Amino acid sequence: MSDTSLANNTGIVKRGDTIVSVNNVSKIFKLKKNEVHALKNISVEIKSGEYLSIMGPSGSGKSTLFNMIGALDSPSKGNVEIGPLDLTKLSSSQLAYVRCNYIGYIFQAYNLIPSLTALKNVALAHVFTGATEEEADAAAKKCLELVGLGHRLDHRPDELSGGQQQRVAIARSLVNDPTIMLADEPTANLDFNTGAEIIGILKKLSIEQGVTVITATHDHKMLKNSDRILWIKDGAVDHIDNAEDLHIDEGAVSSLSGGDELENLIEDNNRT
Ligand SMILES: Nc1ncnc2c1ncn2[C@@H]1O[C@H](COP(=O)(O)OP(=O)(O)OP(=O)(O)O)[C@@H](O)[C@H]1O
Ligand SMILES: [Mg+2]
Repeated sequence: MSDTSLANNTGIVKRGDTIVSVNNVSKIFKLKKNEVHALKNISVEIKSGEYLSIMGPSGSGKSTLFNMIGALDSPSKGNVEIGPLDLTKLSSSQLAYVRCNYIGYIFQAYNLIPSLTALKNVALAHVFTGATEEEADAAAKKCLELVGLGHRLDHRPDELSGGQQQRVAIARSLVNDPTIMLADEPTANLDFNTGAEIIGILKKLSIEQGVTVITATHDHKMLKNSDRILWIKDGAVDHIDNAEDLHIDEGAVSSLSGGDELENLIEDNNRT
């Protein structure tokens, strides 16, 4: 990937700068007979390198909010900005670029391809960015080693434990060097120790690599690793807790990069 960063356009996105702005977002699902107001005027700013947990009861709107931040669905009102990009102004192919290059997704269901080995499951996501097979395999190996699966590269999903499959999914979400990691209930199917290990990996990413981690969870052991906790209730922000005083380094983490393609995106975004 080229080294052109947002620095050339809008100023460096440093650790501690705002990387995600959710601005007055509402989401209404229109069904045949009724409407569901899943999100009601939500606003939150998330800093680069921050570890934010979104907590709330089942049905409160966590996954819906995730889908808005992850460019997987669009708000009925309001907008979401990733760095300088207003997602509501991007075309579908531009959104695909943002999803592929800037965001890593970890879903509750691991969504691994059963016929592919751990290595190839992870490598495939990198091939989509235009990498060669060798480059993709090398990047995949590095990410699998990072999550402690260097010894299971050639195992297919059914030859891995649940926690190991979740770690393959984390490695896959890392392979394109995302700026933002969205993890929806990443520990829901795991035992206590495996869940704690997965949380440890996410925390390490946020501290050591400046990845912004946003997780939705019911799991209280996620909380102590969080910088902040956003509590949502009935689709609205209930309150935000600081888990501890923010420990955000001033060191520059120019985390969005993408060469000409990124510049074009920003130009288009500013025009519309
Ligand atoms: N595609 C949809 N169409 C209609 N209603 C939806 C749709 N997706 C979600 N909802 C509704 O929106 C509300 C919020 O759902 P959401 O999945 O965001 O909750 P959640 O907080 O993630 O819950 P959980 O903890 O159970 O995963 C729920 O009442 C749900 O029924
Ligand atoms: Mg959910």
